[in-house]
Amino acid sequence: MTRSRPGAQTPLTRRAVAAGLPLALATPALAQPLRLAALAQRAGLRYGTAIEPQTVESDPAFASLVLDQCDLITAENALKWNALRPDRDHFDFAAADRVAAFARRARAPMHGHTLVWHEAIPDWAIHQLRSGDPRALLVDHITTVVRRYAGRVVSWDVINEPVERNDRRPDGLRKSPWFEALGPGYLEIALRAAHAADPNARLAIADYGLEYDDIGWMVEKRGTMLDLLRGLKARGVPLHALALQGHLLGDHPPAFGAGLAAFLREVASLGLAIYVTELDVNDQNILGDIAQRDRVVADIYARFLRTVLAEPATQIVVTWGLSDRYTSKTDFAPRPDHAPVRPLPFDADLRPKPAARSLAAAFSGRTARG
Ligand code: G3I
Repeated sequence: MTRSRPGAQTPLTRRAVAAGLPLALATPALAQPLRLAALAQRAGLRYGTAIEPQTVESDPAFASLVLDQCDLITAENALKWNALRPDRDHFDFAAADRVAAFARRARAPMHGHTLVWHEAIPDWAIHQLRSGDPRALLVDHITTVVRRYAGRVVSWDVINEPVERNDRRPDGLRKSPWFEALGPGYLEIALRAAHAADPNARLAIADYGLEYDDIGWMVEKRGTMLDLLRGLKARGVPLHALALQGHLLGDHPPAFGAGLAAFLREVASLGLAIYVTELDVNDQNILGDIAQRDRVVADIYARFLRTVLAEPATQIVVTWGLSDRYTSKTDFAPRPDHAPVRPLPFDADLRPKPAARSLAAAFSGRTARG
C-alpha cells in the first residue's frame, strides 16, 4: 500500500478543501473510528466532558459514548453550592457521588466545578454571608467538599468567573456575594482552603470572555485576569491553572490569533497550566441547513483549538457536553427558528459531527508537532 506523503492532498481532500472545509476536516484519514480521549492522550492532553448523573444513568447508549470518547469527567451542576447545600447544617452529595461513580466506571479522574461562584448560591447561604461568619462558611464548605473527593477530583475550578470589569473596581473584580462579604481576599482564602484540603489537587481560576482577539471587552478582561493571576502568584497563593471556559460564538467570525496566543504565553510564563473547561459553540444564530451550520461550528472548534493547543501549557480540553442530545444551550440559547441546537462534537443521534473531527484533527496536529 503506498502511503501518501504527510500533508499530501488527495483529490478528495482537494475537492473538500476547495468546498471550504478546513484541511483538518477534509483529510480522509480522520474518517477512522473516533477515539477522542486516545488522540488527546497521544497529544499529552486529557479530553473530557461535563455530564449530569441522570443522563448517563438513564441513557446507556450515551453513557457508552462518554466511556468511549472521554477520560476526564466534570459534574455540570452536581458540585455547585445549590446542589450540595440544602441548608446551613447539611451537605447532599447524592448527585455528586453519582457523577463520581460514573467517573470511576470510566476509570477517569474528575475536574471539579465549582467551589466559589456568584451563581447557584442557595438563599440561606446568601443570608449567612451577610449576617453570619462568611469566612467560616466558605472554608468549611471547601474543606468538606475537597476532602471528600480527594484523589478522584484531580483539579478544581476553585473560583469561577471572578472578573467583571463592568463592576468598575480598579482591580476588575466582580462584586460577587463572596467579594461583598470577604473583600478581594476571598480568592486567597478559597485557594488556600482548597490546597489545605487536598494538597495534590490542581487549583484553577475559571472565567469566560477571554477567547476573542477582536472583542474589546475580552481583550481588556485578559489584562485584568493577568494582573489577578500575577498578584496571587506573587503572594505565593496556591494556584496551578487558568481555565478558559471556551463558550465560543457561532455568529462571530473566529478571532483566535496572535492576541490569544500571546495571552496564553503570558499565563504560562507565570507557571500556570491552561485548561479549556466548558468548550462549545453557540450555534443559535448560524444560518443555513444542518450541514452548513455544522461546518461553521467545526471551523470555529478547529481555529480555537489550533491556537490553544499550540501552547504547550495547555493540558485539558473539556466540552460542555458531548452530544447535542444533552446540552444546556437547548434551554439557554435556543434558535429563533426553533430548530434543535447543535453546539457539541456529536449529534443527538450520538454520531460524530465535523466538530468531532475538528477535535480529533487538533489533537493529532499537536501530536504531529511533537
Ligand atoms: O435540577 C433542577 C430540577 O429539579 C428543576 O425541576 C429544574 C427547574 O427549575 O431546575 C433544575 O436545575 C437546573 C440545573 O441547571 C440542572 O438542569 C437549574 O435550574 C439551572 O439553573 C441549571 O443551569 C445550569 C447553569 O450553569 C446554572 O448553574 C446549566 O445546566 C449549566 O450548563 C450552566 O453551566 C455554566 C457553568 O456552570 C459556568 N459557566 C457558564 C455555564 C453555562 O451557563
